[in-house]
Amino acid sequence: SYLRHVDSRKLMPNGAGHIPHLKAVILGEALASEEDDLVLPSKEFSDQANVHSPEQYMEMYKRSIEDPDGFWSEIASQFYWKQKWGEKVCDENFDVRDGKIKIEWFKGGITNVCYNCLDRNIEAGLGDKVALYWEGNEPGLDGSLTYSQLLNQVCQVANYLKDIGVKKGDAVIVYLPMINELPITMLACARIGAVHSVVFAGFSAESLAQRITDCKPKAVITCNAVRRGTKPILLKDIVDAAINDSAKDGVSVDVCLVYDNPVALKREDTKWTQGRDIWWQDVIPKYPSTCPVEWVDAEDPLFLLYTSGSTGKPKGVLHTTGGYMVYTATTFKYAFDYKPSDIYWCTADCGWITGHSYVTYGPLLNGATVLVYEGAPNYPDAGRCWDIVDKYKVSIFYTAPTLVRSLMRDGEAYVTRYSRKSLRVLGSVGEPINPSAWRWFYNVVGDSRCPISDTWWQTETGGFMITPLPGAWAQKPGSATFPFFGIQPVIVDEKGVEIDGECSGYLCIKKSWPGAFRTLYGDHERYETTYFKPFAGYYFSGDGCRRDKDGYHWLTGRVDDVINVSGHRIGTAEVESALVSHPQCAEAAVVGVEHEVKGQGIYAFVTLVDSVPYSEDLRKDLILTVRKQIGAFAAPDKIHWAPGLPKTRSGKIMRRILRKIAARQLDELGDTSTLADPNVVKQLIELSDS
Ligand code: WTA
Repeated sequence: SYLRHVDSRKLMPNGAGHIPHLKAVILGEALASEEDDLVLPSKEFSDQANVHSPEQYMEMYKRSIEDPDGFWSEIASQFYWKQKWGEKVCDENFDVRDGKIKIEWFKGGITNVCYNCLDRNIEAGLGDKVALYWEGNEPGLDGSLTYSQLLNQVCQVANYLKDIGVKKGDAVIVYLPMINELPITMLACARIGAVHSVVFAGFSAESLAQRITDCKPKAVITCNAVRRGTKPILLKDIVDAAINDSAKDGVSVDVCLVYDNPVALKREDTKWTQGRDIWWQDVIPKYPSTCPVEWVDAEDPLFLLYTSGSTGKPKGVLHTTGGYMVYTATTFKYAFDYKPSDIYWCTADCGWITGHSYVTYGPLLNGATVLVYEGAPNYPDAGRCWDIVDKYKVSIFYTAPTLVRSLMRDGEAYVTRYSRKSLRVLGSVGEPINPSAWRWFYNVVGDSRCPISDTWWQTETGGFMITPLPGAWAQKPGSATFPFFGIQPVIVDEKGVEIDGECSGYLCIKKSWPGAFRTLYGDHERYETTYFKPFAGYYFSGDGCRRDKDGYHWLTGRVDDVINVSGHRIGTAEVESALVSHPQCAEAAVVGVEHEVKGQGIYAFVTLVDSVPYSEDLRKDLILTVRKQIGAFAAPDKIHWAPGLPKTRSGKIMRRILRKIAARQLDELGDTSTLADPNVVKQLIELSDS
């Protein structure tokens, strides 16, 4: 097992490792290697932590590996089950060589995630505790809902959905901005056993249409418009276009429920389709505020979330009920050292997995108070986050490295003018956090007081996989550290052979965990091919990873054709297919290139159809095409005109060479002799700066 790599004494130098009376010890600056850069939690922090020492972690971790059934069923028993699961806690086939991949946890157990988030917590006395704080884009616009109020609203939406014929197992598409109605809708679906599919409200009409066509929802739930920063975004127009588009593919949407957001757009200015569109505020309040729960099997689907892969078509990642519930709740509790008095804020949008697991389900399952923020993190200025932290006394702040880097650029003054003394734990997700951004986050934002949980995970994994447990061990800036309970990370070489000790290679996971996705919607074969065939016997993450001499994990980025732009996952193939849909584009190849703020930027090599001249207008038009087909967040940062692309004689594009050209590492192009036409490279380099 993974345990053999780790010597618990190394997690904290000198055994326990605490240096009395020092808030935190930062050894960083003087050390030669980042691997030796240790940041220790304060004794005060460790003493109060849910897991307070390496030894305690090792003991719990060991049990989770040696007796996973016992470990997870004990935790699962803390939730409400209408009926307990059957014989097996986990039933899996994780090896393609033994047949179809199957992952089941708590099968036969009957429960409901919404019930466990709300009713159960209310029964335990949390009815009057704030469940959701909502902070609007405009400072001064805000609101809150207690657990009881949240339940009432969820029930009204659930009753409405039932009334329009949404049944257990039916899909509902949700295209909403970060307003309370977004988690409310998710929970309402969960309550009646419907499968929500939230689409990030930055996706274009075409992307939305693709998702509507794939999952054929009973209803689409949206909002007329939203303001982010100073810009109004007309969401309803996008939805209209998407519904028209999917109708052409034979998928019709009968109901479109529209939340009226008068701050962004007047009702009378909203385009309307009679008979299909209906205002949220006109119907929802009329429904009763209690609604019986639809009890479902632990393995019934909870939601679908589309994500990018290495081919053009987005993948519908399917998560089920019981395992996901247990896993998101447990990871939230330990990785953020959650305490009932915490105020928690995650800046992610519910349109991504982080907003599912760590805005909605994980925190609410723990009875936490969650802040939902509608706006842009730098509006009206770069101090907004800390203004919000002080206003609500946020104690756990979870965000992405891209935001940290962009705020870092704006300067410390925006941070230090706020107190931030409520903060106690910081979190990072979405991409590797570079040590200098880590340091700034730690020293400036957290006043060298708050441990940072750099959580590595994926849409597919449902919850944290490799993450620090704050207070339990020394951190190394830039390392996601150690596996969560029950997770056995392995690093394999090209041939799929596990490598031991200090090494780097492909990050895989051995054996299933409760939060794992169960299939790709409608395409189990693609599920197996993408994740379980590359290295038989393991789940393949698509990430590269290095394990250092002390057993710490350092994620090195994607090894497939997926890039990570501002923490948003984008398939290069999706951008390419958008570009080539432009009538003047003959061919396109997209690679990721290092970007100071976004982590990675999108760099597109474009070959035009014969005799079309390069022009600034065409460049803009190509970028616009991508914005329209995918969304603004996927717009290429750079279009590089390419008379031809470097291809092997069999016609395969050599991306390795393109990556080097994009990164201007021209002396590292490597062997170009296998190219069909080696001249292409020279031409590309000459056009580099045009
Ligand atoms: C990357 C987001 C390094 C990784 C939760 C992964 C990270 C992809 C980290 C999944 C991290 C996420 N350190 N890399 N802490 N967190 N990633 O599905 O490449 O949107 O494969 O899930 O983000 O992106 P996804």
